[in-house]
Amino acid sequence: MAGFHKSINLKNLWSGSWLRDGERVRGQICPDGVGKCGRFRLICRVGVRAEGGEDDVDFRGMAAQDAADRQSGDPEISMNPIILAVDVPDQASAFDLIEKVGTHVGAYKIGSELFTACGPEIIHRIRSMGASVFLDLKFYDIPNTVAKAVAAAAALDVQMLTIHTSGGRLMMEAAVKAAQSAAKQAPPLILGVTVLTSFTESLLAETGIPDAIDKHVLRLGHLAVDCGLTGLVCSPLELGMLRHSLPAPVQLVTPGIRLPDSQSDDQARIMTPRSAIEQGANFLVIGRPIYAAPDPAAAAQAIFQSLA
Ligand code: C5P
Repeated sequence: MAGFHKSINLKNLWSGSWLRDGERVRGQICPDGVGKCGRFRLICRVGVRAEGGEDDVDFRGMAAQDAADRQSGDPEISMNPIILAVDVPDQASAFDLIEKVGTHVGAYKIGSELFTACGPEIIHRIRSMGASVFLDLKFYDIPNTVAKAVAAAAALDVQMLTIHTSGGRLMMEAAVKAAQSAAKQAPPLILGVTVLTSFTESLLAETGIPDAIDKHVLRLGHLAVDCGLTGLVCSPLELGMLRHSLPAPVQLVTPGIRLPDSQSDDQARIMTPRSAIEQGANFLVIGRPIYAAPDPAAAAQAIFQSLA
């Protein structure tokens, strides 16, 4: 597509606008196409769904435009792969943090603790700010129940959500179908959780799986893709293996990210933001290195800059 100019709002990773034949078009950036955003060494595989049809956008061109916009000092224009884990107990603390961090991250992850305490209200508030939400509730149940939970999450207009791949084929297929039919615009990206990083091989064996963890992660990853999932959550140390063996458009989201000079907390398997992107991560889930920093906005900014 010739002569486009894109404008991605940093607060909302998935929506943007560009020029089509001289006319500005708004639409959704979807994780099901292929493109490459070289500027930040990201492997951002995305497509663009415009209002009123599909557009074929050369994302490499968009990345070049991104660089020009960035040099012109427009802070709103960027692709930011950082997802802030809002691991705080209540709505007041959540918004205190979100206001501090503002547009320095690409999305906010709401987990079980905060969602159980606040309910959908917290999602409505974040979405009304124009920011993207990753709802990390790791659904695992019979297909009918998971399908309904996914439909409810899609109706909240979240951009990503998690399910357990060990829920099996029927559960995963039901989740994909539910997301597609319930979403008002682009369906949320469903991320499959393979083996929780808290597992050791002997704990896994106790559940009846005698294999090495890597082998089981790979098996579940392939099953997830076969069921129509286009994203996985994985440990940074699994990135290389999954990126090599799964189809290119699969989005890999990884926690366990630490800057070289920061402490590892309780994360045993860590990687720097830049290495994780180089190993094939599309998104980085980061909590304590940002929210426990004296200046969370500066910490998020430093992590983003470390990717350039
Ligand atoms: O504070 P920290 O950066 O370690 O936070 C990482 C986030 O990613 C937390 O919300 C944690 O629950 C989540 N997570 C993880 N390991 C997994 C899956 C999710 O650390 N395997």
